Amino acid sequence: MSTLKMTIDKSNKISKINKEIYGHFAEHLGRCIYGGIYVGEDSPIPNVKGMRKDVIEALKAIKVPVVRWPGGCFADTYHWMDGIGPKEDRKKIVNVNWGGVTEDNSFGTHEFLDFCELIGCEPYVSVNVGSGTVQEAHDWVEYMTSSNESPMTDLRKKNGRQEPWKVKYIGIGNENWGCGGSMTKDYYSDVYRQFQQFIGGYGIQKIACGPSSADYDWTDTMMRKCNPWQMQGLSLHHYTIPTSDWAHKGSSVDFDEKEYYNTLSHTWFMEKLLENHKAVMQRYDNDKKIGLCVDEWGIWTDVIEGTNPGFLYQQNSMRDAILASINLNLFNLNSDRVTMANIAQMVNVLQAIVLTEGDKMVKTPTYHVFDMYKEHMEAMLVYSNIENKQLLEKDYLPAVSQSVSIDNEGKLHITISNASLDENFEIDCAIPRAEYKNVSAKVLTAKFDKCNTFEEPEAVVPAALEGVKLDGESLRFTLPKCSVVSIELC
Ligand code: AHR
Repeated sequence: MSTLKMTIDKSNKISKINKEIYGHFAEHLGRCIYGGIYVGEDSPIPNVKGMRKDVIEALKAIKVPVVRWPGGCFADTYHWMDGIGPKEDRKKIVNVNWGGVTEDNSFGTHEFLDFCELIGCEPYVSVNVGSGTVQEAHDWVEYMTSSNESPMTDLRKKNGRQEPWKVKYIGIGNENWGCGGSMTKDYYSDVYRQFQQFIGGYGIQKIACGPSSADYDWTDTMMRKCNPWQMQGLSLHHYTIPTSDWAHKGSSVDFDEKEYYNTLSHTWFMEKLLENHKAVMQRYDNDKKIGLCVDEWGIWTDVIEGTNPGFLYQQNSMRDAILASINLNLFNLNSDRVTMANIAQMVNVLQAIVLTEGDKMVKTPTYHVFDMYKEHMEAMLVYSNIENKQLLEKDYLPAVSQSVSIDNEGKLHITISNASLDENFEIDCAIPRAEYKNVSAKVLTAKFDKCNTFEEPEAVVPAALEGVKLDGESLRFTLPKCSVVSIELC
């Protein structure tokens, strides 16, 4: 077993890790909202106001900080007035982006904001720019957030909600270079400036549609044309495609070691993306007033055979847990600029953290990574370094990914993963001036393609990591192959 030397400088505090980096995304897509979160009050599945109790409990346990809704591509087809008032009167529409199914609008503004209150998270609402109007967006924000008297607040009260909700984040459009209106960067930046003018004044942070992956020109245009009063966040969307071929993305359950390594190598592209978009943003915003919000990320595979191709239902394996750990470590390491990240998507869609089938629910390996990483939220990133090893000859794939933070009680949290399928590593970590007395550690490990299923829901779950040795300023442990580890020192 080879030894990797690691260093942590706990006095070198770099940036605060915003809790919103551990955010989620729930779209009206497939079985994410309907069946996954919302089953209706008359359902035999135990629910609170129509929301599944099992899912609510699972989300509360990992302290979900923010949920983005209603899309995604759906957002730029969504007219919010269709989703308020008595359910029997709500308009039925066709979900044109996702399977052409009927959307009965039974989950609308009140249901989403109630859901956020139930799980205790900040709402992030994306308004319709592609097929909506400035007035419609303005009215929606006023309906949700104003305490003054107005036709919109009267309507809200008539629909049963007296007090305004607190909505911290408003997204102005989604992928407006694509499904949100096929706009050019210049056109969207002007439209953005117009929309944002009529939104806000209620303590809201406005997030603009940002680039797709490596479109640095889009970032440049938005940063040049919008100032920090107009835009508090710029989004970035980037998905990991195992094969890099959108037509044949690769399976979520049936893949070999070569595809495993390729997938993880592709996910490391996030490091380059963050570095380059940050550099563009820095040119215009040296004070880091505008945050980079990676509000869609995760692995996107082919759908599970026999399921609706428009529903984007895929399984989730130990590979995806490692992929999540790499991305979350990268977001932590770039938390000087990355203020939010939202994994796509919360339930039953893409890299879901929970899957449901009827009344059954299963927590995926990715769920457990979020659980193991949750102590980073609102903590300070501290300097860490590891002597790493490359796993592929031609492509970039470091074996180990890590980040370290210190919370306001002085506890140190280390999250670290090993992508190697062959090698355990002995980690020899120096922590100068450490005076910790206690150490506790967890490990998530399994065969690379192992999933939690409805038949075997606990195939991949965290366990205690044994043999961690803390001796003054030295910490030593074995990092098993194909694993994610979290360590707390206090
Ligand atoms: O998450 C699925 C889709 O991916 C979203 O609707 C869209 O924004 C992106 O292209």
